[in-house]
Amino acid sequence: METTEQLALIQDYTVQQLSGDKSGHGLDHIHRVVTNVKMLLADEPSASYLITLTAAYLHDVIDDKLVSDVEAARQGVIELLTQAAFSQPQINTVMLIIDNMSFSKSLTTDRQPLPIEGLIVQDADRLDAIGAIGIARAIYYGGKHGEKIYDPTVKPRTSMTKAEYRNLANETIINHFYEKLFKLADQMNTPAAKRIAQARQKVMSQFVNDFKSEWNGMA
Ligand code: ADP
Ligand code: NI
Repeated sequence: METTEQLALIQDYTVQQLSGDKSGHGLDHIHRVVTNVKMLLADEPSASYLITLTAAYLHDVIDDKLVSDVEAARQGVIELLTQAAFSQPQINTVMLIIDNMSFSKSLTTDRQPLPIEGLIVQDADRLDAIGAIGIARAIYYGGKHGEKIYDPTVKPRTSMTKAEYRNLANETIINHFYEKLFKLADQMNTPAAKRIAQARQKVMSQFVNDFKSEWNGMA
């Protein structure tokens, strides 16, 4: 099967699975991650185009925030990849990437190291969590989950387990910047993503600084 034909099957599957999403993990997010990986791939010639694009499309399809049965979702992906003529080692690589790349997984101790294709998809996903888009997604997600915008009496949590990260009781949108978003620039893997993240970091810092000034009644 041609690569373009394989990717068309993967893309169709992702559209089916995520088109109803209202949590900020919808298809618009996937399309931006795919655009980001294509840009990052230009600087990483050793990475496989097929594996990187496939993991970019599928990375949120097995997310425990989006599906109630993660194991069933994983089996669905394995079936899809088999039908799309991926070899067993290719399937193993895609599953390794999507099982281990998320921010919440990075808070656990049982994560596996990522191959270059996974490092690229992780950077592409994290770039979409920061900057102007990142601000919009955090507000969208926080609103959906009933978070307060801000509460100066609630201090950001400094280190968290995955379970604590997922526990949104008392969470505020502004605290999410300190607990996750401001940390991502330092965690980028590839030189190109590090560079882009620096600029996006400034957008977020400016936003949070202005937000606090306005909150305190300053011009
Ligand atoms: P990952 O899938 O890498 O574990 P998440 O799914 O938790 O990361 O995050 C997905 C999006 O939702 C990101 O844009 C993230 O910043 C946003 N988000 C996650 N948790 C919160 C929260 N408690 N408040 C506001 N935004 C959040
Ligand atoms: Ni994502």
